[in-house]
Amino acid sequence: MKKHLKNKIFHIIKDIAETENLQVFVIGGYVRDLIMKRPSKDIDLVVVGNGILLAKKVAEQLKGKPKVTIFKKFGTAMFKYKDFEYEFVGARKESYSSNSRKPAVEKGTIKDDQNRRDLTINALAISLNPKNFGELIDPFGGVQDIENKVIRTPLDPNITFSDDPLRMMRAIRFACQLNFEIFPLTLKAIQQNKERINIISQERITDELNKIILSKKPSKGFKILDKTELLEIIFPELTNLKGVETIDGMSHKDNFLHTLQVLDNISKHTNNLWLRWAAIFHDIAKPATKRFSKHGWTFHSHEFVGKKMIPKIFKKMRLPMNEKMIYVQKLVLLHLRPIALVKTEVTDSAVRRLLFEAGNDTEDLMTLAKADITSKNERKVKQFLINLENVREKLKDVEEKDKIRNWQPPITGEIIMKTFNLKPSKEIGNIKDAIREAILDGIIQNNYDEAYSFMIKEGKKRGYRI
Ligand code: CTP
Repeated sequence: MKKHLKNKIFHIIKDIAETENLQVFVIGGYVRDLIMKRPSKDIDLVVVGNGILLAKKVAEQLKGKPKVTIFKKFGTAMFKYKDFEYEFVGARKESYSSNSRKPAVEKGTIKDDQNRRDLTINALAISLNPKNFGELIDPFGGVQDIENKVIRTPLDPNITFSDDPLRMMRAIRFACQLNFEIFPLTLKAIQQNKERINIISQERITDELNKIILSKKPSKGFKILDKTELLEIIFPELTNLKGVETIDGMSHKDNFLHTLQVLDNISKHTNNLWLRWAAIFHDIAKPATKRFSKHGWTFHSHEFVGKKMIPKIFKKMRLPMNEKMIYVQKLVLLHLRPIALVKTEVTDSAVRRLLFEAGNDTEDLMTLAKADITSKNERKVKQFLINLENVREKLKDVEEKDKIRNWQPPITGEIIMKTFNLKPSKEIGNIKDAIREAILDGIIQNNYDEAYSFMIKEGKKRGYRI
């Protein structure tokens, strides 16, 4: 591995380690990513001895002397230097109590430190010591597991997961991110220890979930979460979508698998986490709205109910209850609209309404609508895609002509009050709404003059004088 340690810092560390008589190793994700040729910006260093002291000495020798941040309680220190983040930790032997994640820390050897790590691929270390600089220390066959694309714990998985249950999520997240398979015994242990996830903070669980969602093919992670029954604990609203019901020979699709398909589809076109979340949520209210009539299965208003379900789930998952949530809600509410347009004759007024409601998120809505087409009938899919493309063209034409996307009312409430000598009241809003509707319906153009004339007529109709 010597030739891979090009970073000058590694040599500085080696020299200091020698004079200070310390043993130092690069460990964890950086080594894994080095072997896998993935970019990595976090460099973890394990020191058999005092990590804080070493961090300080290294920083002193670097240009600009980066500021060392010390976490005394954990015996760790870190600094940032040229795009990289270096973290120095004393080698530890850890034991955990069963009802807490806070380990009782004891000093240990490099082997002890590797033992206590989550996965074999994350337990690899490279020596920075003069006598074997660059030597790979791989006690658990981590390199072999990288080659075989296997996720496995260094110790008995029941110990590793019970020690820190977040690692169950991490194992699944890495399997999804790297497209690896989880070793059968490791997988079994996740299922056996699933309840232990309850001692982990929601923020950390959601963090891992977001990483799964941002993977190339997120369905892989969700399917493992489901198989191990973790999903039912952390996201029951999603597992509720599972299953197919048949009455009188009529079935509906499995909305869980459909949702995962939509999520994979959308992930090919966007890295926007919130657009991917919108895909996850788009049919979330289908179980709540499911009905059977003689014509078959219906899920009336699932888009409205879905929009309403979102805040509670966001809150529980500690997702941000800000404009991101409002964006997800908006897309869920509108997700059927482009397809509904496809099914009818595409009128200018319907297109204007969609532009008005979707505003700057119109393209994202179209991306979601496209991802939502998952029929097995290829002919049907092809036709839908062509029709959706027509809608896209029409949206572009109407937007160019009418500028509805960032619609601002051409007539303000002030103007209405002044013209008819009215005091602030509900009626002002009603007149404004009437003007907006007339523009959206194409009765008048989206400009001041036409809107003004319309306002005069509308006011007179309501008995007001100029
Ligand atoms: N680690 C662990 N158990 C955890 C978290 C981390 O054993 N619950 C160890 C692993 O050896 C891991 C290292 O700490 O490689 C660094 O953790 P972290 O920075 O969270 O993960 P990375 O492996 O670097 O990967 P990523 O940056 O993608 O999270």
